[in-house]
Amino acid sequence: MRSLPRHVPFPSFFFFLILLLVVVSAAAGGGEWKLLQHSIGVSAMHMQLLHNDRVVVFDRTDFGPSNLSLPDGRCRNDPNDKALPVDCTAHSAEYDVVANAFRPLMVLTDTWCSSGSVAPDGTLVQTGGFNDGERAARTFRPCDDGSCDWVETAQALAVRRWYATNQVLPDGRAVVVGGRRQFNYEFYPKPDPSDMSTIALRFLQDTRDDVEDNLYPFVHLSIDGNLFIFANNRAILLDYSKNTVVRTYPKMPSGEPRNYPSSGSSVLLPLKPSPTEAEVLICGGAPAGSYSQALQKKRFLRALDSCGRIKITDAAPSWNMEAMPVPRVMGDMVLLPDGDVLLINGAAAGTAGWELGHDPVLTPVVYRPDGAAGARFDVQSGSTTPRLYHSTAVLLRDGRVLVGGSNPHVKYNFSGVEYPTELSMEAFSPSYLNSENSRLRPQILTPPSPIQLTYGGRFSLQFSVGVVSEGGIRVTMVAPSFATHSFSMNQRLLVLETEGGMSEVVAVAPASAILAPPGYYMVYVVNGGVPSEGIWAHIQ
Ligand SMILES: *[C@@H]1O[C@H](CO)[C@@H](O)[C@H](O)[C@H]1NC(C)=O
Ligand SMILES: *[C@@H]1O[C@H](CO)[C@@H](O)[C@H](O)[C@H]1NC(C)=O
Repeated sequence: MRSLPRHVPFPSFFFFLILLLVVVSAAAGGGEWKLLQHSIGVSAMHMQLLHNDRVVVFDRTDFGPSNLSLPDGRCRNDPNDKALPVDCTAHSAEYDVVANAFRPLMVLTDTWCSSGSVAPDGTLVQTGGFNDGERAARTFRPCDDGSCDWVETAQALAVRRWYATNQVLPDGRAVVVGGRRQFNYEFYPKPDPSDMSTIALRFLQDTRDDVEDNLYPFVHLSIDGNLFIFANNRAILLDYSKNTVVRTYPKMPSGEPRNYPSSGSSVLLPLKPSPTEAEVLICGGAPAGSYSQALQKKRFLRALDSCGRIKITDAAPSWNMEAMPVPRVMGDMVLLPDGDVLLINGAAAGTAGWELGHDPVLTPVVYRPDGAAGARFDVQSGSTTPRLYHSTAVLLRDGRVLVGGSNPHVKYNFSGVEYPTELSMEAFSPSYLNSENSRLRPQILTPPSPIQLTYGGRFSLQFSVGVVSEGGIRVTMVAPSFATHSFSMNQRLLVLETEGGMSEVVAVAPASAILAPPGYYMVYVVNGGVPSEGIWAHIQ
């Protein structure tokens, strides 16, 4: 600490101390962390929130024993399992957000590094993985009585899908894009189950480098119905129905890789009412060579500290680069109900992969898309738990962000290592949940959750609120996403057209399934920057 200048008289010294305290508490940042469960027994490599406020969590089946027994003394007999042919522990769990409780689920084949999406009826559809699970599809239909579990279909996919990405389409199917050594895509479910065709995608081959920095491509459904696909350091706009590339985007400046294993993250920024343009934000990653340096020389290069933002609907778009307050690889980007983006989890050095991440970044950062350029980032309060490789984060209906996972080892390893396998669940509450915002927090009174919406249909929400802020009342609609490996598939936030304000708001549902693919969404009334607890809405 610097000593005080000698001429400072006592009252000024006092003032100085107060000033110092104010500065220190501001530097502590916004938001709050809370440990929900010390252990849910399974490391949250993949997470999906379903419309009954349960989160399905799973990792991989060939890690050896987890810390959660299968129910009723059951065991998994899988001669193909690489670690334990007879395994009486669970590798998937259902976390009940409201009750803060969990139960084991039975997943049979290997889900390692798989992908997923939610079908229009609210069933989780999870595809691919490794070994005996590489072509499997698994469904999980949510229930409230603890009776539901995974249902598996072997050989459901045309080819093996390991590190692929799913995106829900306007017709309710998912497109499954890429995966290791798969330069193609396919659709699921298949109306004709014997149709094992794939569609070639040269772009995935072109973006493959020596360490395959093009895995888990960032896929977003644009407002014109085409797919924005980013891999490595560049992107295309794909008309998947004709398999034609309708736009090639410029390479992101600096050309450093942003996809697995140099994992950055990506979001489609909130869509405005009746949107005429769409933007994508991609943050973090690792400089070229990071993976080999970490693997071969145990040298952990500093992660990227830049974000690139691009208007994907522009005919001649360019990247707008912004500097983050902290470098980050393996971070998760979560759209918050107020339209801000939370960057959370990850490391400041190294890459994804076993033992390859270092310098955990414990502080989340909020990015305000509508803020003034150069003043969009805001560092939040830190957690004490490193969340490295295989950690995840998802938005909950109550506005908190559920954080779980981190297992940078080949097997479960709970001690004697620098970054132990993490079985805990934490919640990060953004500052809009602070008690000083309680007078600003709307409460939706009617209709009760869930509501049924039709495309372009008007619906009204009655709410109570202490005081309406200058920012006014907005209604937002957020798709719960499938989070794994620093990317949240199907993440989407729409700001709806509204009328009214003090106690009732009439909103117009998105006009088409291109803007909002069919399924369940969380609807929030947002007062300035303070969202209500959401209600579930189904649109089809
Ligand atoms: C495993 O679970 C038990 C409770 O069932 C808990 O006491 C223990 O700490 C857990 N181990 C780890 C490594 O989380
Ligand atoms: C955990 O890591 C330690 C140190 O590297 C190693 O000795 C031990 O075998 C590992 N345990 C498992 C289950 O892999």
